[in-house]
Order: sequence, then structure tokens, then C-alpha cells
Amino acid sequence: MDDYRRLLLNNRAWVKDKLDLRPDFFEATATEQRPEYLWIGCSDSRVPAEEVTGTHPGELFVHRNVANMVVHTDFNMLSVLQYAVEILCVKHIIVCGHYGCGGVRTALSRRDLGLINKWLRHIKDVYRFHSTELDAIPEGQPRFDRLVELNVIEQVHHLADISFVQRAWRKHQRPMLHGWIYDLHTGLINDIVKIDPGDHPHDIYEYDFEP
Ligand code: CO
Repeated sequence: MDDYRRLLLNNRAWVKDKLDLRPDFFEATATEQRPEYLWIGCSDSRVPAEEVTGTHPGELFVHRNVANMVVHTDFNMLSVLQYAVEILCVKHIIVCGHYGCGGVRTALSRRDLGLINKWLRHIKDVYRFHSTELDAIPEGQPRFDRLVELNVIEQVHHLADISFVQRAWRKHQRPMLHGWIYDLHTGLINDIVKIDPGDHPHDIYEYDFEP
């Protein structure tokens, strides 16, 4: 059998399992979604958002890209984010990075990957912002791990710097922003940063809104 057919067979088995547990499982969620969480994660195949958080269909609104980035000119991410904040009214946004991230590892190196350089450039910028701290850490795993953490913190700050996130804070006192790191070796998630609605990390990005 072709390898890909296994996925389609798995789907049939999954549907059967769900319906055995709850006959209206699909009908109950087919007409609308009301997820409370937006997950911004890495595309890495080893960090499946729903599986590592024990969540079910309908619970997570998900955006994934290389190295879980929040880039303020990325209309794909911004469209997902605006929809999540303004239409779905999510209560929490989680940026989840992971140790061993290939995007971060490549950004730390001088490797040339063509187009991907442009995307990873944003991680090199994170390094430059924190070069005093990072240069003082021994080269290798410790420095790599710390850049993974700083990258997540930086992306969470980017969320706080976006005008429509600030408008939702002002009007609705949500969403809360979270930065998490998944450990590939243990499967555990560490909570490393949290920003409550209204806590602006950088004054220069704070907007005044018309009443
Ligand atoms: Co990654």
C-alpha cells in the first residue's frame, strides 16, 4: 500500500472512534467554532498543537510557521490574528516555541538557504537585540536554548505591539498573551512569559485610540 493511504485509513478509524464516544461529535461542532485560544507554533512536525495540549477539534485556532514568528508585515499571520481577536474573541494567545528548533539553529549559523534567509533574518535580529546576553553564554546548546527562549519572548512582545491587540485590551480586557517552550526530549511545556491585557512592554509601540 502507498504510504500516504495510511493517513486516509487512519482518518476513517478516527471518525469511528469519535462517533463511538459521541454520535453527534461532528454535527455538534460543524456549524460554528468558538475556540478560546489562538496557538502560534512552529511548523515542526514534532510539536502538534492539539496533541501536546490535549485539546479537541474546536478548541484551538492555529497558525504555524517556521520558528513560530510574529512578523508585523506577514499578512497571513496578521489575518489569522485579527480574525482570532476581533471575530472569535479568543481569551488567550499562545506563542509556543521549542528547544531544538531548526529555524533558530539555522539563524544562529552562517548557512545560506536562499529565500528562507529572509524569514530567518528576523531571528538574527532577535540575536542582535540580545547579543550582550547571548555572547556571554557558551557557544553550543546553552546559547541555542536561550535564543529559542528569547525568540518566543520577542514574538509575544510583537503581539503586544500590534494595534488591534491593544484595541481589544482597551475594549474587552483580553486577550492574555503567553510564551511557552516545548521540550522535544520530555514532551513538557514550560511557561516562560505572560502579558496581561494592558501591560505594554514597549511605550514606543503603544497607540492612542479615538474614544
Ligand atoms: Co521549530
